[in-house]
Amino acid sequence: MKRLAVLTGGGDAPGLNAVIRAVVKTAGLQYQAEVLGVRDGFDGFLEPGGVFPLTLDSVRGILPRGGTILGTASRGNPFARKIVREGKTIVVDVSEDVATSIRSLNLEALIVVGGDGTLHIAEELYRKGVPTIGVPKTIDNDISGTEVTFGFDTALNVAMDALDRLHTTAEAHHRVMILELMGRDAGFITLEAGVAGGADVILIPEIPFRFESICEKVRERMERGSSFSMIAAAEGARPVGERQVYRMGGDEVYTPRLGGIGQVVAEQVGEACGIETRVTVLGHLQRGGSPTAFDRWLATRFGAAAVRLAAEGGFGRMVALQGAHIVNIALTEALAVPKRVDPHGEGVATARGLGISFGD
Ligand code: F6P
Repeated sequence: MKRLAVLTGGGDAPGLNAVIRAVVKTAGLQYQAEVLGVRDGFDGFLEPGGVFPLTLDSVRGILPRGGTILGTASRGNPFARKIVREGKTIVVDVSEDVATSIRSLNLEALIVVGGDGTLHIAEELYRKGVPTIGVPKTIDNDISGTEVTFGFDTALNVAMDALDRLHTTAEAHHRVMILELMGRDAGFITLEAGVAGGADVILIPEIPFRFESICEKVRERMERGSSFSMIAAAEGARPVGERQVYRMGGDEVYTPRLGGIGQVVAEQVGEACGIETRVTVLGHLQRGGSPTAFDRWLATRFGAAAVRLAAEGGFGRMVALQGAHIVNIALTEALAVPKRVDPHGEGVATARGLGISFGD
């Protein structure tokens, strides 16, 4: 193996730089191979100067840094790229240009670090003959075939810390505090941070809720002498029979962005329970900043394993964590069904056993 490239696509997640560093170090020191970095996801293959050499010097000091030194594009799908032509916005497929650019670089492997959207692109490019290898990244932890993705642990800790801080002010003011958390259609961040941060009510996309059930829990706590309550609400949570709440619309290319359910819960619960409510939307704080030790360790193992997989010719596959071991699985297998919280699983049962309400 002489030359490979690495890119980061989709929303950033703490640990991306740890993957890049592990790829460059493992390829350079173990295989004497050259690594190229690609700027801003797949866009880098289409821009002048978008592909450049990464050396041991380029990755010095990046392990504790959030974000990605390569940049990323959360809306850069080469199979459906929006461009403006003669004043009109049109959608074009530039995947063949990307594949041609990749071929011209004589790459033996392209390591694609991303979430489901980016990994789907990696899979489609693989079918076009590009030797891709996937590394699963997302704070949402919604990719199947891997027990966890890097970035999730950091987001979880940020969310837990926010709940801890909100607890003290909720208690002081006798309020219901609602913390809206990310995760798209998966409730992992909210479930796990909610339990770790002592939430009384946890609202996740996998379990539709009723406002009346939330109020019952708040009232029950008041009767028992607790004048405040904590609600952890996933951005994708929704009341029974209603739709999810969006902060940004989508179109034929871009998916809509969730957000706003926290405010809805605050208004409805405040009115129905006659108690003061306040809402905090944690937003991108969950994605920024330095990765936890767990995420640095997992990201490093994933990066190193991706290079070993490249050396073995394991293209069209993704590195994954299973039973404490790093394995690899076909991208098609990982992407077939997105991972969700099991409403009847051990995590939800544990929370219910502690008296936590899911508002159902
Ligand atoms: O997938 C990661 C994520 O942070 C989701 O939890 C969230 O819904 C989305 O990305 C936000 O996307 P953007 O950064 O484009 O607003």
